Amino acid sequence: MLVEEIIRNNMRYNKNGNIYSFIQDEEERPLWSQRLNNYFINSNADLKMTEKYKQNKLRINESAYKRFFDYISENEGIGVDLASGPSGYFSPALDRLSENYVFIVTDACPAVINAHSSACDNPNFYVFDMDLDKELPFKNESVTAFSGNLLNNVDHYADLINEAYRCLKFGGRFAVIEMFFEHGCKTYEYLNNQGAVWASFETFVEYCRNVGFVYKDSEIINSRKGKISDGDLFPLDDNDCSTDRMIYFEK
Ligand SMILES: C[S@@+](CC[C@H](N)C(=O)[O-])C[C@H]1O[C@@H](n2cnc3c(N)ncnc32)[C@H](O)[C@@H]1O
Repeated sequence: MLVEEIIRNNMRYNKNGNIYSFIQDEEERPLWSQRLNNYFINSNADLKMTEKYKQNKLRINESAYKRFFDYISENEGIGVDLASGPSGYFSPALDRLSENYVFIVTDACPAVINAHSSACDNPNFYVFDMDLDKELPFKNESVTAFSGNLLNNVDHYADLINEAYRCLKFGGRFAVIEMFFEHGCKTYEYLNNQGAVWASFETFVEYCRNVGFVYKDSEIINSRKGKISDGDLFPLDDNDCSTDRMIYFEK
């Protein structure tokens, strides 16, 4: 399966090994990715991606994760992970790579891009350096599945969902792991007023349905009251509750 066959005809990009860079000018990098990159450089961080891939692959033993990775890799074609980030959470998908199942990870942080590029040398694995707040570089109805883990740092999450829909084949799959706030709590009210699609599970599903997706199912994998760490921006109130869920959609 040739990855270049799904790239739109008018796209400009540079190739370097398994890295395809769609960001031609450094000033085009999203701020969040620039900040993260500066943090990694200034702290001399080693992302230890090979180790993270190994650790995350063990998660396939948890039924919720097995289901998630089965869902995105069951059908032949090209799977794309959105804003893949430094966690390497997607690594169970790499055990399924073949000539008939190609996986592309995406991000705009150079340190993250390089860490993924070096951690997997399978010829059916690619790393796309691209801005997810812009139109995706894929042709209409070309991608088999999109996945994502905690995508709320992407500024235009709602537009990204529309773009994923455009690029997915009919019958294609969209599965995300996302943190949602309880409908009606202070953080929900604030995020909903800002137009954030991830304000609650209900707002997210409603938005995706309006885009055209068919909601299949979801599974709660974690729930909590208050912040995860002291420095977190959300929730705005220590009494606000949130849940992490896996959500499954189909085009
Ligand atoms: C909190 S992480 C998302 C979590 C990630 N999926 C993981 O499992 O590690 C945010 C990542 O999204 C990337 N990102 C944020 N905005 C982006 C954008 N507009 N385009 C591409 N990547 C972006 C950042 O560079 C960062 O690596």
